[in-house]
Amino acid sequence: MCGIVGFVGHHQAAPILLDGLSKLEYRGYDSAGLAVRDGEADPVLVKAKGRLQILSDKTDGGKTVVGSCGVGHTRWATHGEPSENNAHPHCSDDHNVVGVHNGIIENYQELKEKLVRNGYSFYSDTDTEVAIKMVDYYYKKYKMGPIDALAKTMVRVRGSYALAVMFKEYPGEIYAARKDSPMIIGVTNGESYLASDVPAVLKYTRDVYYIGNLEMARLTEGKAEFYDLNGDQIEKPLVEIKWDAEAAEKGGYEHFMMKEIHEQPKAVLDTINSMIRYKDEVGEDGTKISGKAFIDLASIGITDEIIRGIHQIHIVACGSAYHVGMAAQYVIEDLARIPVRVELGSEFRYRSLLLDPNDLVVVISQSGETADSLAALREAKDKGVRTLAIVNVVGSSIAREADHVFYTLAGPEIAVATTKGYLTQLVACYILGIQCGIVKGQIPDDKAAELIQELNTLPGKISKILDDKERIQWFAAKFASARDIFFIGRGLDYAICMEGSLKMKEISYVHSEAYAAGELKHGTISLIEEGTLVIGVLTQKALFEKTMSNLVETGSRGAYLANVTTYGNYSVEDSTDFTIYVPKTDEHFAATLAVIPLQLLGYYVACARGLDVDKPRNLAKSVTVE
Ligand code: M6R
Repeated sequence: MCGIVGFVGHHQAAPILLDGLSKLEYRGYDSAGLAVRDGEADPVLVKAKGRLQILSDKTDGGKTVVGSCGVGHTRWATHGEPSENNAHPHCSDDHNVVGVHNGIIENYQELKEKLVRNGYSFYSDTDTEVAIKMVDYYYKKYKMGPIDALAKTMVRVRGSYALAVMFKEYPGEIYAARKDSPMIIGVTNGESYLASDVPAVLKYTRDVYYIGNLEMARLTEGKAEFYDLNGDQIEKPLVEIKWDAEAAEKGGYEHFMMKEIHEQPKAVLDTINSMIRYKDEVGEDGTKISGKAFIDLASIGITDEIIRGIHQIHIVACGSAYHVGMAAQYVIEDLARIPVRVELGSEFRYRSLLLDPNDLVVVISQSGETADSLAALREAKDKGVRTLAIVNVVGSSIAREADHVFYTLAGPEIAVATTKGYLTQLVACYILGIQCGIVKGQIPDDKAAELIQELNTLPGKISKILDDKERIQWFAAKFASARDIFFIGRGLDYAICMEGSLKMKEISYVHSEAYAAGELKHGTISLIEEGTLVIGVLTQKALFEKTMSNLVETGSRGAYLANVTTYGNYSVEDSTDFTIYVPKTDEHFAATLAVIPLQLLGYYVACARGLDVDKPRNLAKSVTVE
């Protein structure tokens, strides 16, 4: 996955392209490049290995590259190592076609051979160079213009792409094609923008078009035209982006991750509010109950009738979103007594699936673009099963293709390590679980009211945990050079451990493992040495003593014992070395609170190790490759 941008208008393109790329660096940051045209002149290509700053320094912030039409790219290498040679843009040998690409061309070897037979040679190891030369080949062969050349390429290519190209004979124009990789197009007075994600254009315009799958676009100054695969022009609605540019800035925090951790109370509140309504009612004894809260999933098309018909729920997701699914499994099964299976997106599609038409497949994804989750969604749809997407990015592929969409209202999440995305997904699952429980007759009215009321207390409780973050910072500094960290818990606490462990390893590079506490003794406990940090998560009353005794078992093998538990469980201090308390809540919602100290711990350990928290090595924000 990578980030692409394009600009055509009255200003110099290079500084705008660099600025746009800086908002997309979360998508890839191992090399970058741009191609800019000044009128009819050949494009000037500049590329650099490493962070975008190197490209910016090389072009003096874009000032040395003249021209008002161009495309740019920030790369996360898939085909070919990160190098200047493999960096985009790529071009045909005569500079007839030059372009940038996000995605994967699966059959690039086969296409390359075809092109070689037709006299083409290749300078890079990338699939993108093949795609660009394929466009050039069809452009020259059929002589029917850019849209036709793109359409013919799209028919031949297998894989995913957001492609932005310029043609020598069409100065002041950018052509785009899309399948399965995100791309938006923004327009404003006399200027047009193209980008993989909204933050890249938000400074310039809030009016965007979402280009659909297997569609193409032609951008000129302040205008965008759209075409289908037949080359016929199609109309698209202009959509106004509601959130402002500041939402995608650091706002005084050192890192996006810390900013996003602090945005969690609001993100959770907004997500809850989006599905809770209030009504006046008359109770059984005739008294008037004013403003009774209720969940309204009808607004996303999930009616009581649909819920009544659900036999089983399959949650499909990747990474942290999968951990949400793990937590949701405990919550939904307990509240609604509906069997829930949780599957990794990358595994779901490669099994012989036993899906029933009465099942509901829930795909959870912050970006809405994760290739494995998207593929799983399509698989489920192909099998005729109803799909619900829990997604943050409006208009993303998963959101567009699912039968129902529950948008989490986290706002833009930039840090590679998800925090507010994860928390709002959890809340969405709680709401789904409660409503299923009510409709399936498992949750009586008074209990439903209690649960909804408790949901509303979560934002305040999250803020309270954040107020005490300095203690966690102190603790993190103590373990900044740890070699291994283990997170242990049972049941829902185990699901919380999985997320805590991922937060730790992905940004601090400290090896960590999440373990079901009762499983330790079946092998893993042999890894415990003098001083190894073991963190127990103990939020579930019925499992408290069992997990505690597993924790103590590691302590007697020399481990340093820390734990996250709820206020009131003060006995933990007798047997462990460091305790983090979180406010009490309904036990179903414990993950929302207990994960916060673990997010902070991962963050502070990474900072203490001097690492780039927002852009950890080898990772990117949305994983649009399988
Ligand atoms: O955009 P998605 O929610 O589909 O992303 C899924 C994972 O790639 C993501 O959660 C990843 O694991 C994060 N880096 C975790 O912080």
